[in-house]
Amino acid sequence: MPIEHRVAVYGAYGHTGRFVVAELRRRGWGMVLSGRDETKLRALSVPDPGARVLPAAITDPGTLDELMVGVDAVINCAGPFAFTQEPLIEAAIRAGVHYLDVAAEPDIVERAIRHHADAVAAGVVVSPANAFYGGLGDLIASASAREWTSVDDVRIAYWLSSWIPTPGTLATIDTASTRRQGQRLVWTPAGLELRSDEAPAGRWEFPGPIGTQEVTQDFVTADAVTILHHLPVTRLQECMSIEALNDLGQLDGPGPLAVDERGRSAQRFMVDVQVAKGGVLRRSTAVGRDIYAVSGPLVVEAAARLLDGPPRTGVITAGAMAEPSAFLDALAPDHLQWSRAA
Ligand SMILES: NC(=O)c1ccc[n+]([C@@H]2O[C@H](COP(=O)([O-])OP(=O)(O)OC[C@H]3O[C@@H](n4cnc5c(N)ncnc54)[C@H](OP(=O)(O)O)[C@@H]3O)[C@@H](O)[C@H]2O)c1
Repeated sequence: MPIEHRVAVYGAYGHTGRFVVAELRRRGWGMVLSGRDETKLRALSVPDPGARVLPAAITDPGTLDELMVGVDAVINCAGPFAFTQEPLIEAAIRAGVHYLDVAAEPDIVERAIRHHADAVAAGVVVSPANAFYGGLGDLIASASAREWTSVDDVRIAYWLSSWIPTPGTLATIDTASTRRQGQRLVWTPAGLELRSDEAPAGRWEFPGPIGTQEVTQDFVTADAVTILHHLPVTRLQECMSIEALNDLGQLDGPGPLAVDERGRSAQRFMVDVQVAKGGVLRRSTAVGRDIYAVSGPLVVEAAARLLDGPPRTGVITAGAMAEPSAFLDALAPDHLQWSRAA
C-alpha cells in the first residue's frame, strides 16, 4: 500500500510523542522519528522498519533542516515548548513544511501566532496546541458557535478525575513559573496579563455524573489563545476542578500509569463548554480518558485535515480547521464522546 503522508515527529519518544507515533502507525503513514536521544529513538523505531530515525538537537538548525527533507509536516511533541517551538517553526518555514505541536503554554502559543505572515509567505500552516489544552476546548467552542462569527461569552470548565503529570508537564510548569516570576496568567479582553493575586475559587455545575465541583476560576489554558485567534470573543473564562490541581502539588512520581492495551491511564476528563451570543446559550461537553493519550490522535487528525483538505496557509488552530464538529466526530467514540450543542 503506498504511504499516504510522511511526517516527522520531534520528541517522538516522550510520553505524548508515543501516542502520536502510535496513531501514525495505526494510519500507516511514513514517519521520521526525531529527538535528542538516539538510543531511545532506535528503541521506539523497532516495530516500524520503514521509519527513519534522525537524532537532532534543537539547537542544531542544520540537522533540523535535514529533518524537514521529504516530509509533509512536522509534529513537535517536545516540551517545554518555550525551548523547542521557535527552532522547529523556523526550520519548517524554511523548508516549506507544515508545523503542528501540542504546546500547552498560552504565552508560547501566542508567540507561535506571530509567525502568521511568515507562514503565509512560505505557503505553510503553523498550528500550535493541537492537544487536550488548546485543541479540545477550541474545537468544542467552534463547533458550538457554528454560524456565529463572534460570540459574547466563552466559558470552559475542565474536570479531571486525577492529574498525574509527566516529567515534561512538570518541566513546562516550572519553566513557565520562572518565566512569569511566580505570577499567574490571566485572560483579559486586551490580552493575557500577569497578576500576583490569588485566582478566585468558585463552583461549576458539570453535567452528571460529575455534578457540582469546586473550581479555580481564571485558569488560563492555551484554549484562551487558540479560540481568540479566529473567533472574536467579548468575555472568556476557564475553570479547573480544584481536586485535579491539588494532584499537581504532589510532584514526585513515576508519571501516569498505563492501565490498558493502548497505554492510557485511568484518568477521566470532562470539558464543559458554554458559548453565548445575544442571550442564546449553547452548551457542549466532551468526556474521555487520559489527557495525554487523547492529544496523540487529536494532533494527527489535525495533520490529516491539513494534508487532505484544500490548501491553506498561515497560523490555523484546530477549531479553525474545516468543520470542527466533523473533526470531533473523527475522534469519537474511540478517543472521546461529545454532546453536540442544540
Ligand atoms: N496541550 C496539552 O494538552 C498537552 C498534552 C500533552 C503534552 N503536552 C505538552 O507536551 C510536552 C511533553 O509532554 P510529555 O507528557 O510528552 O512529557 P515527557 O514524557 O517528559 O516527554 C518530553 C519530551 O520532550 C523532550 N524534550 C524536552 N526538552 C527538550 C529539549 N530542550 N530538546 C529536545 N527535546 C526535549 C524530551 O526528550 P528527553 O527525554 O531527551 O529529555 C521528551 O522526548 C510538555 O510541554 C507538555 O506540557 C501538552
